[in-house]
Amino acid sequence: MKKDLLALRNLSVDEIMEILLEAEKIEEGKTYDLSNKIVASLFFETSTRTQYSFLTAMAKLKIKELNFNPVGSSLSKGESFYDTVKTFESLGVDAFVIRHSEDEYYKQLKNIKVPIINGGDGSKDHPTQSLLDLYTIYQEFKNFQGLKIAIVGDIKHSRVAHTNIEVMKRLGMEVKLSGPKEFWEEGYDFLALEEVLPKVDIVMLLRVQNERHQSLFKLSNAEYLEKYGLTMAKVNIMKKNAIIMHPAPFNRGVEIADDVVECPKSRIFKQMANGVFIRQAVLKRSLINE
Ligand code: CP
Repeated sequence: MKKDLLALRNLSVDEIMEILLEAEKIEEGKTYDLSNKIVASLFFETSTRTQYSFLTAMAKLKIKELNFNPVGSSLSKGESFYDTVKTFESLGVDAFVIRHSEDEYYKQLKNIKVPIINGGDGSKDHPTQSLLDLYTIYQEFKNFQGLKIAIVGDIKHSRVAHTNIEVMKRLGMEVKLSGPKEFWEEGYDFLALEEVLPKVDIVMLLRVQNERHQSLFKLSNAEYLEKYGLTMAKVNIMKKNAIIMHPAPFNRGVEIADDVVECPKSRIFKQMANGVFIRQAVLKRSLINE
């Protein structure tokens, strides 16, 4: 059976833990030689971390990668998304990593017979980001049950938030949300940041995604930071052992103050480093039949 990774809600808690524990072994030095495999990396939407940490993971696994660039491809001649993916399958690739701006783009790819790893779809899901977030939390606290997290900011447009809220609740975490009402989603309670900060173990900030909406409110960057962002004054009311996370890219001086980005509580660059271990584990899962 082909092992896609499209959304974490399709995976059981045991399957998720298996990926995290595999990433841990890889971080401790376990290696795989997948030099007989070819993986096509198709990013139809911009990316730095996801795209290049997958490429780094492939290099470490000795996978041959085809790094597709939409600019300069036959998309400009009108070739469709499906036909582009089908073309790479015909070339003989063993798996795909795909990012696309459309929610659940993979529903168009039901005919594709090799595994697809979702590098992010619209505002819906970002499974490998969520896995690296979970891995970072697991490293810090060694379990999930009972941990309290505040996810703060542009929840409505964030695929990272949507994936994390579902899986973190399933893992026994208490998820609290905070942010301006323009970013609220139906069915969730939103709390003031100052109210949640002293109570949570993890503060996960989200980027204001101006590219996904016309500016919804008239706040200046400084006003957003003061009302909804994380400043050093607010860091100082967090629990002693609490950590700060952000999937990045971040808007310095908007959702996060410049001096918070690399403060002792920040795990933001640790998250990026962990992305390489997680993506090696995910590639290995899709490419080796066990
Ligand atoms: N966190 C994340 O998905 O970053 P990129 O958009 O740079 O891949």
